[in-house]
Amino acid sequence: MQNSALLQFCYYLESTSLNAAIQDHFWIVPTMQSLHILAIASVLVGVLLINLRILGVHGQSDPIATVIARYQALIWFALPVLLITGCIMIVGEPARSLTNPAFQLKMLMLVIVILITLHFQRKWRNNHSYAQADLGNRLLSIVSLTLWIGIVAAGRWIAYA
Ligand code: HEM
Repeated sequence: MQNSALLQFCYYLESTSLNAAIQDHFWIVPTMQSLHILAIASVLVGVLLINLRILGVHGQSDPIATVIARYQALIWFALPVLLITGCIMIVGEPARSLTNPAFQLKMLMLVIVILITLHFQRKWRNNHSYAQADLGNRLLSIVSLTLWIGIVAAGRWIAYA
């Protein structure tokens, strides 16, 4: 998507003093990239442990609710770090990401997968049984894992798309 409002917004961001500061200090972008990657690691560990439990592949000695409660912080504390570091990288070079189909796809997948994660949290908030997840939620868990992999791939593809 490259409509004129989006391009105008990119030009506006390019004219800000924050853009100039990011361009002037060579260390800002690599530092943001490093923090972004560390936060990705945190999110993916949480996502993997929770989804493998929902799929019944790992961690069956605990109820799904316990596994979600134990590892959800890895996701919810890392997402604001991803948002802040991502936004700083965007302000530094707005058109590179905002008009990029890989970035737009990544954001769409992120919104969907956050909704799925919230659904899992709500479903197992007060259900501390050891029962396995039903087929529907197992399928949703596979969709969730696929989307997270897609988000990582799309993030890397921004540089090439
Ligand atoms: C929360 C909102 C997010 C924003 C605004 C954002 C934004 C960005 C931006 C601007 C880049 C730099 C792309 C480039 O110029 O090459 C990037 C890279 C990347 N992002 Fe995100 N991102 C977000 C969340 C995530 C999440 C949740 C993941 C995966 C779990 C992720 C995975 C990646 C990857 C793998 C890269 C490439 C890193 C590299 O090669 O240095 N991002 N992101």
